[in-house]
Amino acid sequence: MQTQIVNADFKESIKLAADVIRSGGLVAFPTETVYGLGADATNKAAVAKIFAAKHRPAFDPLIVHLANTKMLPSVVSTIPEAAQSLIDVFWPGPLTLVLRKAKEIPDIVTAGLHTVAVRMPQNESALALIKEAGGPIAAPSANSFGYPSPTRVEHVIEDLGGKIDLILDGGVTQVGVESTVLDLTCAPPSILRPGGVSRESLARILGKVSVSSAEEGEILKSPGQMKQHYAPRAKVLLFGGKRREKVIKTMQKKIAELQKGNRIGIMVPEEELAHFTDTDGIVLGLGSFATMEQVARELFATMRALDNRGVNYIFALAPPKEGIGLAVFDRLFKASGSQLIEVD
Ligand code: TXA
Ligand code: MG
Repeated sequence: MQTQIVNADFKESIKLAADVIRSGGLVAFPTETVYGLGADATNKAAVAKIFAAKHRPAFDPLIVHLANTKMLPSVVSTIPEAAQSLIDVFWPGPLTLVLRKAKEIPDIVTAGLHTVAVRMPQNESALALIKEAGGPIAAPSANSFGYPSPTRVEHVIEDLGGKIDLILDGGVTQVGVESTVLDLTCAPPSILRPGGVSRESLARILGKVSVSSAEEGEILKSPGQMKQHYAPRAKVLLFGGKRREKVIKTMQKKIAELQKGNRIGIMVPEEELAHFTDTDGIVLGLGSFATMEQVARELFATMRALDNRGVNYIFALAPPKEGIGLAVFDRLFKASGSQLIEVD
């Protein structure tokens, strides 16, 4: 299949993409978080193509994307009060709500669950596409299953070129990590995946909110959450601990140990760059932990860049689990196969 790539800024591109969606095809499109791979959420055959193109297992449900809240009743059966309050504050934006599903949504979208994940992205092209297509679009991230999510059009081409109909090129995505997935069918509401909207800002609206991911022990308890995900081909070694100096020393020691016969990649915030040199490996800065939004924006692209340079180990430093740092930690932790190297 020939994959057509068009500029998302043009009206004609949106029209073309909406035609593809309406006729049951696949379109990769930008959102504020990462690129999504979209199909008509009410068309079973089209949604099946998403799973095939990504090599995604059928048990992993998709997020349904809306252009406005008028579309919500065709996706969910009830809108609890808490959902409405969150929608008022965070939509459009990187918050996905898990609610009871409406019957219009086929089982393939939700992997047979009675719940559905739904969000309204904060990206003009995405909203225009959904509006023009005339209904909700089911879309996972537009990467091969398990690989880091795409934040640039090149990443989509790398993973899905030749396998999908169209890519809307909307440049680099703003947030860089995926949306926060919040389950509102339990009490207290539970964060299934930390993301672009922080736990702290959700707690401000909801009061109590639990996190069923990112806290190391917890991940293993919740079924459906994979121990390894968002992972580059290289083995990710994630280091953390309270005393930064000691953590860095441990990283340096491990690098020296692995140097022989390996190609090492190092991915650290700018403030730690001085501790590593070209003789250690390929060293890439990742923004500053003081501006974690920037780290989030660069995270997946940096993992892919190191992979493309043929490293077989990636050394990374765990960020503090505050604000969007929790999402960055979660992605690094999953990329490491859920193995944090704690230095104390
Ligand atoms: O930012 C994002 O969320 C991006 C953009 C494209 O919107 N999408 C995205 O989709 O990251 P995906 O498929 O890569 O991740 C969706 C997550 C998965 O972890 C999936 O298991 C979970 O949402 N999910 C979907 N439906 C669910 C449901 N009914 N109950 C619980 N978890 C659900
Ligand atoms: Mg994904």
